[in-house]
Amino acid sequence: MRLGSLLALLRPALPLLLGLSLGCSLSLLRVSWSQADGEDPCVEPRGPRAGGRDPADEDLEPRIVPYYRDPSKPHKKVLRTRYIQTELGSRERLLVAVLTSRATLPTLGVAVNRTVGHHLPRLLYFTGQRARAPAGMQVVALGDERPAWLMSEALRHLHAHFGADYDWFFIMQDDTYVQAPRLAALASHLSSGRDLYLGRAEEFIGAPEQARYCHGGFGYLLSRSLLLRLRPHLDACRGDILGARPDEWLGRCLIDSLGVGCVSQHQGQQYRSFELAKNGDPEKEGSPAFLSAFAVHPVSEGSLMYRLHKRFSALELERAYSEMEQLQAQIQNLSALTPEGEAGLSWPIGLPAPFTPRSRFEVLGWDYFTEQHSFACADGAPKCPLQGASRADVADVVDTALERLNLRYQPRLRFRKRRLLNGYRRFDPARGLEYTLDLLLDAETRRGHRRPLAHRVRLLRPLSRAELLPVPYVTEAARVQLVLPLRPADSPAALAFLEAFATRLLQPGERAQLSLLLAYGGARGGPDPFAAVRAAAGALERRHPGARLALLAVRADAPSQVRLMDAVSKKHPVDTLFFLVTAGSRPGPDVLNRCRMHAIAGWQAFFPVHFQEFHPALAPRDPAAPAGDPWRGAAATAGRFDQLASAEGCFYNADYLAARARLARELAGPEEEEALEGLEVMDVFLRFSGLHLFRAVEPGLVQPFAVRECSPRLSEELYHRCRLSALQGLGTRAQLAVALLEQEQGNST
Ligand SMILES: *[C@@H]1O[C@H](CO)[C@@H](O)[C@H](O)[C@H]1NC(C)=O
Ligand SMILES: *[C@@H]1O[C@H](CO)[C@@H](O)[C@H](O)[C@H]1NC(C)=O
Repeated sequence: MRLGSLLALLRPALPLLLGLSLGCSLSLLRVSWSQADGEDPCVEPRGPRAGGRDPADEDLEPRIVPYYRDPSKPHKKVLRTRYIQTELGSRERLLVAVLTSRATLPTLGVAVNRTVGHHLPRLLYFTGQRARAPAGMQVVALGDERPAWLMSEALRHLHAHFGADYDWFFIMQDDTYVQAPRLAALASHLSSGRDLYLGRAEEFIGAPEQARYCHGGFGYLLSRSLLLRLRPHLDACRGDILGARPDEWLGRCLIDSLGVGCVSQHQGQQYRSFELAKNGDPEKEGSPAFLSAFAVHPVSEGSLMYRLHKRFSALELERAYSEMEQLQAQIQNLSALTPEGEAGLSWPIGLPAPFTPRSRFEVLGWDYFTEQHSFACADGAPKCPLQGASRADVADVVDTALERLNLRYQPRLRFRKRRLLNGYRRFDPARGLEYTLDLLLDAETRRGHRRPLAHRVRLLRPLSRAELLPVPYVTEAARVQLVLPLRPADSPAALAFLEAFATRLLQPGERAQLSLLLAYGGARGGPDPFAAVRAAAGALERRHPGARLALLAVRADAPSQVRLMDAVSKKHPVDTLFFLVTAGSRPGPDVLNRCRMHAIAGWQAFFPVHFQEFHPALAPRDPAAPAGDPWRGAAATAGRFDQLASAEGCFYNADYLAARARLARELAGPEEEEALEGLEVMDVFLRFSGLHLFRAVEPGLVQPFAVRECSPRLSEELYHRCRLSALQGLGTRAQLAVALLEQEQGNST
């Protein structure tokens, strides 16, 4: 049995096997821990309860939810959670709750959202009266403005909805500015699982005790365990304690019911806050308490919040730059100890070295540009005007170069730009965008001497943090409806297609169905040009009981791809996943799976780039090449990935219908007719839908060589593309040259 079919057999059991092996390894882990508990001489029993665990370690132990089954009870199907995170019981770190009001939500509330929101996993706003939530903000209206009520209801809500999901709850007011990254860092340094009430501790007015509460204006952290313990006491507190302010009420409640007071310091972490003076200017503030603060209060208006944010962001940036400089100095210091020595350092220090090609095929090319023109154009033209983002990019790089030069030679020399002589740019996937610029500068000394100067500089725009693109969840088991449009001339190729389809995809687990679209010419009568295809389809159905091939006859002279697709689309439900193929396609299970993965309803359509084999006379097949994988090893000479062809694609019917409806709306009469004749399905998606169009090489889709015709009805651009694709699909330039040479030699003798 081949490996492929073995895998196909095993696929349904794969999640089970994975789960089993994960379970086994986790339980082994647990066994070794419990053994280590008593026997390891290095571990001293801690605290009075020898052998037991310190409660503070509780959060360090992954919790395994056991799937214990009681043999006396009837067996129920085990429901596994979707994420491992849920199963292990790990939680998010920090939730921020902002106490706001209907009046200040649109100003201060939004300012908090804009300065803090994107740094933290979750932000919740609590108001008394119902208020309209600004876009992207989650607002909970509690229905009453009384402080005690507001506070206790907010805590109740946090407990009920997020008590299981977060380790820390930070509660603040909307007139507080919070330096979110610092706060997140603080939360990540504190170990959860302890009762903690951390903030700016204040004494109760007129109360003799030492007990303190955390000032709400500067925000405070509550640990999850404290919230859980506090929950049963909330109602009693609400009745007993009359407080003017929510923070005092909470402080009092915590002391009275649990005996926990506010602290400003815990585990060596100090909660630093700063009280802003009236009319205080964040730009002029320079005290250490301000510079290192987590929270600043009071913030009287939105604009002050943004100014504070600007100041703190600039501070963070400065800190990051100086840290980078230090690290670079350290790397330089240490490089002497490496085998290559200082010579092993690449510029800029600390970033990956430029990519070194191992063969001439891997060389990364440089694109040449000037300030007005680019000499690497998308459409293959030798020269095109520099526009849009490209132009802004070049201007930015030139400005940066000038700024750096002035900074470096100041005050001895001052530079002014005359013009850019040459510019080179390339993208290095390991580093980022690299530039080499030849600048013509005016250099001026301090005494006023001036001289033009040509200078070469190198710049790098490094890749920053890689991000994952959020993409909707796809169902990988979706049934794929293959659609094969056929003209009479395609009949022989269609027979080969059916054969390949039967062997590769008519397996029980594949969930693939095939519709054949038979496009009869306009003329009626005469023998059926598709008789052979019909017969083969019938034979296939007999050979594979249960398989159903849909045959759809269309009567039109030379129907375009879009018209044929229209005919099929009507006959299927809107949630059908179509895979449009050609008679040359040979899709296998892998291709079908990638089709399922990449076509996302309402989001993305997938048009794979197939591998086109060259003419067999020009590029003879290597008999030693492994069957079914002809392009590997001989990829460069056996064929090419045909980026110009776009007849194969995966998309959902609903998306196709939406794009078609938009086409019909935007074009009318003859224009629509022209579009229907001249466009391919991919172009319809490209021009008439907001969908993301995904194109990628698909090694599983190999098309054997065939002489291709291009319909003269295609739009000019598409016809050109089709011709080019057919010609370039003949062979490589070298192969064509050899053939030409042989032919000429043959003629001359
Ligand atoms: C609030 O913040 C979120 C996350 O950063 C953002 O998506 C949303 O647009 C913001 N809303 C407003 C009104 O600024
Ligand atoms: C680099 O090494 C020199 C001499 O050994 C030392 O004085 C300097 O502090 C080092 N710099 C850093 C950043 O480690």
